[in-house]
Amino acid sequence: MKVLVVGGGGREHAICWKLAQSPKVTQLYCAPGNAGIAQVAQCIDIKATDVDGMVSWAKENAMDFVVVAPDDPLALGMVDALEAAGIPAFGPRANAAIIEASKAFSKELMQKYHIPTAKYQTFTELDKALAYIEAQGAPIVVKADGLALGKGVVVAATVDEAKQAAREMMEDKKFGPSGSTVVIEACMTGPEVTVLVFTDGKTVVPMPASQDHKRAYDGNRGPNTGGMGAISPPPQYTPEIAQRCMEEIFRPTIDALRTEGRPFQGVLYFGLMLTPEGPKVVEYNARFGDPECQVVLSLLESDLMDIFQACVDGTLDRLDIRWKQEAGCVVVLASGGYPLDYQKGYPISGLEEAGRTATVFHAGTKLGSHGECLTNGGRVLGVTATAPTLDGAIDAAYAAAKSIHFQDMHLRTDIGRAF
Ligand code: GLY
Repeated sequence: MKVLVVGGGGREHAICWKLAQSPKVTQLYCAPGNAGIAQVAQCIDIKATDVDGMVSWAKENAMDFVVVAPDDPLALGMVDALEAAGIPAFGPRANAAIIEASKAFSKELMQKYHIPTAKYQTFTELDKALAYIEAQGAPIVVKADGLALGKGVVVAATVDEAKQAAREMMEDKKFGPSGSTVVIEACMTGPEVTVLVFTDGKTVVPMPASQDHKRAYDGNRGPNTGGMGAISPPPQYTPEIAQRCMEEIFRPTIDALRTEGRPFQGVLYFGLMLTPEGPKVVEYNARFGDPECQVVLSLLESDLMDIFQACVDGTLDRLDIRWKQEAGCVVVLASGGYPLDYQKGYPISGLEEAGRTATVFHAGTKLGSHGECLTNGGRVLGVTATAPTLDGAIDAAYAAAKSIHFQDMHLRTDIGRAF
């Protein structure tokens, strides 16, 4: 099969790495890809958000299957456009991807179908939002309705901070039209876990749970990032909690989307908080999480192409998906200054040595004019290791990360140990 993966970060490298192991995949392409992806797939210079360009290229080059990995092209309807062109595509159509693209939609869905989540209200007028914040008090959470590169959520410790966040989103348009509508919700407490599920719209197959580390610095301090590292499985996610999540959250969500005429095919990301009252939904994403994807796919034994095809064909109930009975850890190596200002274009050394004991997924890299690997983003690499125990996986990921160097490299030293 000729397969195209859309995207160019650590998530897409992990997907390409796993697809390249499938005997079914004879030619693998990735658009736009990166320097690491180029080792397992042919990179094509098309932006992930260029729906028309991607569909034309896939048609002209007779792709048998396309995997749409990032949120933006899903929300823009890339899967719908590929299907209309007769090309099977993995990922939700736009009318189901809205579960990530609109927080107001997802909160309304949860309320309608009694899926546990924080109490909330949606606002389109600033003065009403400010009055609600005043009445509710702090801590309180302010969320931009639309996609905002993971930055549209403010957990405000004070009423003033919450009001400022609402003003920045609704008045100053800090996130453009994404903040015209805001969701204001109660602050939940408890450990956070991620569960990614494969689904064909009817059957739900959870992957091993994982735990992201979103703050930039050790001790969960500093600004929010896309994720500085992840472990799988998190010790707090017990089999009893997993069963409750399946019954109260995962199946009800997939059933709700189908009932609403928005069947969801692809990977649905459940950001969960294990509160004293039980597990509740913090957020949904319409795709694999990153870096969670890197650690979770490292634990997958089955053929990922079989799973993607079963999700598209509606035959997921016939697959027996197998996982390594091990634990995993990914440590993100970022550019100094990320997630704010950072430099790009620094040479990276030690990749080969690190690759002897871990899998190094590339997130923001590019090839220089002499074929050397250069930094090209905020999150640069994800050093991923698996081992029979979680401690073993954490130690192995950090040991491998020690071999890698680039100017101003930043990493957290407490992945898997900060909770
Ligand atoms: N790591 C969080 C996300 O992918 O949204």
